Order: sequence, then C-alpha cells, then structure tokens
Amino acid sequence: MEGWETVSKAVIYASTFGKTRKTAKYLADQLGADTFDLKKQMLINMAEYDHIVLGSGIHAGKPYKRLVEFIGNNKGELSKKRVSLFLCCKFNDEKGAAQCRNIADEFGISDATFFSGRGDKNPDGFEVALDEYVSRLR
Ligand SMILES: Cc1cc2nc3c(=O)[nH]c(=O)nc-3n(C[C@H](O)[C@H](O)[C@H](O)COP(=O)(O)O)c2cc1C
Repeated sequence: MEGWETVSKAVIYASTFGKTRKTAKYLADQLGADTFDLKKQMLINMAEYDHIVLGSGIHAGKPYKRLVEFIGNNKGELSKKRVSLFLCCKFNDEKGAAQCRNIADEFGISDATFFSGRGDKNPDGFEVALDEYVSRLR
C-alpha cells in the first residue's frame, strides 16, 4: 500500500526538568512513534520496534543514569536495531558537538545529535533543527 509505514519506532527517554520529555513527545508526534519515559518504566518490550530513538538531558557532561542503565541492560536487543540518540543540553557549537561525540562513543551509537535550544524556532516553538532531525529519522 502506498505510504504504508512499515518501520515502527519507539522514542525512549530520560528527562529531569522536562526539556527531553517535550522534545521526545514532539519527535514521536511527528514520526508516529511510541514514547517511553524511563522514569516510569525501565522494562520495555522492544520486539515490535525496528528503530529505537534514545534521548537524555546532560548533567556534568554525562547523560542521565536511567538511560545509561537502560542501554547497559539492553545491549543485545539494541544491537539488532537501528538506534539513534539525541541529547538535550546547554552547550552548543563545537563544545556541544564534542560532548555529544564523547557520549555517543561511550554508548557505541554512531547516529547521535544534540539540541541546545539556542537555534531558530519553528511556529510551535521547537528548534528548526528538530524538524530537520525528524526528516532524517523518517
Ligand atoms: C546541574 C546541571 C548540570 C548541567 N550540566 C550540563 C553539561 O555538562 N553540559 C550541557 O550541555 N548541559 C548541561 N546542563 C543543561 C541540561 O542538560 C539541559 O538543561 C537539558 O535540557 C536538561 O534536560 P531535561 O530538561 O530533560 O532534564 C546542566 C543542567 C543542570 C541543571
């Protein structure tokens, strides 16, 4: 069927102050994905998903513990899927990029990006970069 969405996506996130949660909800809305808040559940059945989008805020250069733990607990399952990582942080430019690279390398995730909240906004108040990210994830 034309336009039939065969790839099923899950956005799994850890958020303390709400920015990553809002970003995750927006992404999921745009992508038709399911969302999972690691604050509410750490056990997630990923069997029905082909593409896992992971999100976290950053404290002192580190992603949130719940995400670190989730990735550690699910290495086998995640290795079978397309995995993308987004980070909500305050660093931008080179500093943000270096921080994002370090975290992605630690996780062994090659597709990683970050949102500092400083870029141009779309009419919904979300960064334009987020819409570009959505297009890339589709
Ligand atoms: C105590 C504290 C430490 C932080 N450390 C960093 C940091 O090292 N690098 C960075 O880019 N952002 C840092 N931030 C900014 C947060 O990562 C950013 O506000 C993020 O959007 C928070 O995500 P959340 O609202 O989903 O919890 C820090 C914020 C706080 C409150």
